[in-house]
Amino acid sequence: MKGFEKICRLSDLPERRGRKFTIEGDTDIAVFKIQGEVFAVSNICPHNKSQVMYDGYVDEELYLSCPVHGWKFSLKTGETPPECRNTLSKLKTYQVVIENGEVWVKPEKKKMWFW
Ligand code: FES
Repeated sequence: MKGFEKICRLSDLPERRGRKFTIEGDTDIAVFKIQGEVFAVSNICPHNKSQVMYDGYVDEELYLSCPVHGWKFSLKTGETPPECRNTLSKLKTYQVVIENGEVWVKPEKKKMWFW
């Protein structure tokens, strides 16, 4: 699938518990399967840059809580809950496609810097 990286089979993902994967060779993501839907977000918490989001708790409204200090981010949008919008922090989300029982994630295009 052009522009996407295969990370695993859908059956490899446990229900509601995160798993960590590396895409683009060096980008850690956290992947969650919830009722047949798969979400991929950065594994790095925007608060303190801790690489722990895969180990977070997902509530019924699909907010993922960071296990370090409890900040919450939507698995769908990466945004914090409305009552916390003063933080201006957002967790990066990635597009996911499931095809033939395989899970594919679209990496972000890396920026090129020229000096
Ligand atoms: S490091 Fe995630 S909430 Fe503080």
